[in-house]
Amino acid sequence: MNNQLQLVVDSFLKADGNMLSMEELKEKGCISSLDQFGSNYRLEQMGDYGYRLIKEQLLFTQQRFTETVQTEFIGKQVYFFDTVSSTQRIAKKLTMNQVEEGTMIIAEEQTDGRGRMARKWHSQKGGLWFSFIVKPEIPIATAPQLTLLTAVAVVRTIEDLLPLHPKIKWPNDILLHGKKVCGILTELQATDGNIEAVIIGVGLNVNQQKEAFPEDIRKKATSISLETGMIVDPISLLKGFCFQFEQLYKLFLQHGFQQIKNMWEQSCETIGKEVTATTFKGTVKGEAFGISDEGALLLKEKDGSVLRIFSADIDG
Ligand code: BTN
Repeated sequence: MNNQLQLVVDSFLKADGNMLSMEELKEKGCISSLDQFGSNYRLEQMGDYGYRLIKEQLLFTQQRFTETVQTEFIGKQVYFFDTVSSTQRIAKKLTMNQVEEGTMIIAEEQTDGRGRMARKWHSQKGGLWFSFIVKPEIPIATAPQLTLLTAVAVVRTIEDLLPLHPKIKWPNDILLHGKKVCGILTELQATDGNIEAVIIGVGLNVNQQKEAFPEDIRKKATSISLETGMIVDPISLLKGFCFQFEQLYKLFLQHGFQQIKNMWEQSCETIGKEVTATTFKGTVKGEAFGISDEGALLLKEKDGSVLRIFSADIDG
């Protein structure tokens, strides 16, 4: 058996003491079907005895990650959890003490995942939920650039491993065929105007099937599996992300934001569109024509005035 796979259930199927027939098993939908979190069920013949049902899952383990991650510091110190309230919360707690740059907290499931604007983030098994800590020596005003850098890293990770071309919706939503597949939450810790740590949380929908998403977000959310019809290894995606992020982060620290900004604009679907931005202060409409060097969305209103939007929900 493939060493990336874990045999979770290994059971004979019986009804009233008798083996179920192949037909009955098919009817029950047991044959090569995916459950809502992307585990695969398949049947294996057992000589004359009948069949056994096997549930396979890609192994989500620290060992598989640490043995092969190809970075200098991102993801070198990791904390893996089956279930946590929120990786972001744990990362924040860790920053209270000495913590190495690149430290990462990864969970298979979050019970209280948090999104932007204090929203709930659904984090069932099947997705990839992680937060990590960086400590850049940059002015506070430029910290939002790291959100955009992270979005570029996610896009490159997906493009590198899969036949997909994700788009970025400002500031930090990654879309596949118009539906959100990934969200990024960036939080800052600073003292006396200096950045102490930036905590970046990434939520990537990987193997969830439709039923795994709550009804109210089913039309707007998707997973990599839903878009490709494949079951994808979350650990490969995580390793890919660490590599891409570290490359971009080094580039950013050495040469500034310009190149990252160009990459971001190439994948952005918001630029050039008429959009409605809902901010804490109210709603504004205009043409999104670029981003500022701080990562703010530049909006041209009908009367020609230019607005810089730092935080908003974008429709359009
Ligand atoms: C968004 O609203 O689009 C951002 C979602 C960020 C979710 C991730 S999942 C890992 C980390 N832990 C959390 O509680 N939130 C972030």
